[in-house]
Amino acid sequence: MDRIRITGGRPLTGTIPISGAKNATLPLMIASLLTEDTLILDNVPRLADVAQLQRILGNHGVDVMVNGKRPGDSEYQGQTLHISAARIVDTTAPYELVSKMRASFWVIAPLVARMGEARVSMPGGCAIGTRPVDLLIMALEQLGADIDIDGGYVIARAKSGLRGGEVVFPKVTVGGTHTAMMAAALANGTSVIENAAREPEIRDVADCLNKMGAKITGAGTARIVIEGVPRLSGARHSVLPDRIETGTYAMAVAMAGGDVLLEGARPELLQAALDILTEAGVEVSTTNAGIRIARNGAGLSPVEVATDPFPGFPTDLQAQLMALMTRARGTSRITETIFENRFMHVQELARFGARIHLDGETATIEGVDKLKGAPVMATDLRASVSLVIAALAAEGETIVNRVYHLDRGFERLEDKLARCGADIARISG
Ligand code: EPZ
Repeated sequence: MDRIRITGGRPLTGTIPISGAKNATLPLMIASLLTEDTLILDNVPRLADVAQLQRILGNHGVDVMVNGKRPGDSEYQGQTLHISAARIVDTTAPYELVSKMRASFWVIAPLVARMGEARVSMPGGCAIGTRPVDLLIMALEQLGADIDIDGGYVIARAKSGLRGGEVVFPKVTVGGTHTAMMAAALANGTSVIENAAREPEIRDVADCLNKMGAKITGAGTARIVIEGVPRLSGARHSVLPDRIETGTYAMAVAMAGGDVLLEGARPELLQAALDILTEAGVEVSTTNAGIRIARNGAGLSPVEVATDPFPGFPTDLQAQLMALMTRARGTSRITETIFENRFMHVQELARFGARIHLDGETATIEGVDKLKGAPVMATDLRASVSLVIAALAAEGETIVNRVYHLDRGFERLEDKLARCGADIARISG
């Protein structure tokens, strides 16, 4: 199993290109099941989760063709996928595949919408909390699907098609909103989603669905209206930049010090996180090319933050901010409101000498003068990358184990950091 070795203490300077967003790519790939025509996605990141979803879609009979690199392409150019679900050969998504990636449960929506039936394994346990699918099921029922649960599988049926309906989410759910939107796109009649997730990835998927002929308005707000259409066609869509990758590198630069341009990053996708960095004393500026992050010499000020659905501070940056605050001059407080138990990084950060006290959903972080490198490992991808951030400022050597978590969501992380001067390398095997 690969590991990453980091020797801390080097500032970061240069440019980091931001890849396409993992959390938009996955639902966009799943949306390909809604049409017999080819969906072309540009700016797709090279990630283990994307490859895994390719396998899952392959099981339903979907062909995915990946464009090779062309002369003149930059090294970090995203991939182009040509995805064709002309013939769906199987409407079952088995446990062995779904259990590896929770988002693959979302195939249930396009499968039942287009084929009238779907049999999808419950996603099962997850390192960041229980994460049930009750709200996704509720949404499908509101759109006319009959649901059975049998042998660990959710079976959705709508033999004469889904019908428009009103879906009122009692709690903001990204996966619930994607599911409802995809299902409603092919339903008979008009649907309304209330208390919809407003994450930029929802809007990106809605934009793509509209290019495919869907009639969706209001994506990006809490009320989405979808006028169902009988069929969708192919389209070409470029995935928006990854706001979590952007925020992660912003925190890495804030931690290590230096001056880096996050190329292609869009500030409006993570304003809450940029505001917190500014409050902590980090220089944040926007240029035509992206976002510039700098910290030269000055110490970090502590902050108080609670995670929240978009446009709030994202749960997917909580671990990274915590790593950063371990070096602040004073006491920070970070409250996790989205997932219970998304604190697996706390005990690993302690191995660097960080002082963090957990009380329910709030972590109190007392900044320390120095961190020391250590062997560490983590159980999910955002937690893993928080250890990389700590290591960049720690004295001596850190070995991050279980790198496959990082490969799920960060494209060539060690390359991107090494080019800016970090002493970081992958150890294979
Ligand atoms: C998406 O997960 C993201 N995944 C997660 O990113 C992200 O952390 C999360 O949204 C929150 O922003 C993808 O986009 C692929 P939710 P999702 O449904 O859709 C509860 C990463 O690191 N809930 O918005 O699964 C749930 O338990 C990942 O890239 C129910 O109670 O999250 C949680 O407390 C990890 N019942 C809250 O809602 C349901 O049926 C929000 O979850 C569904 C969710």
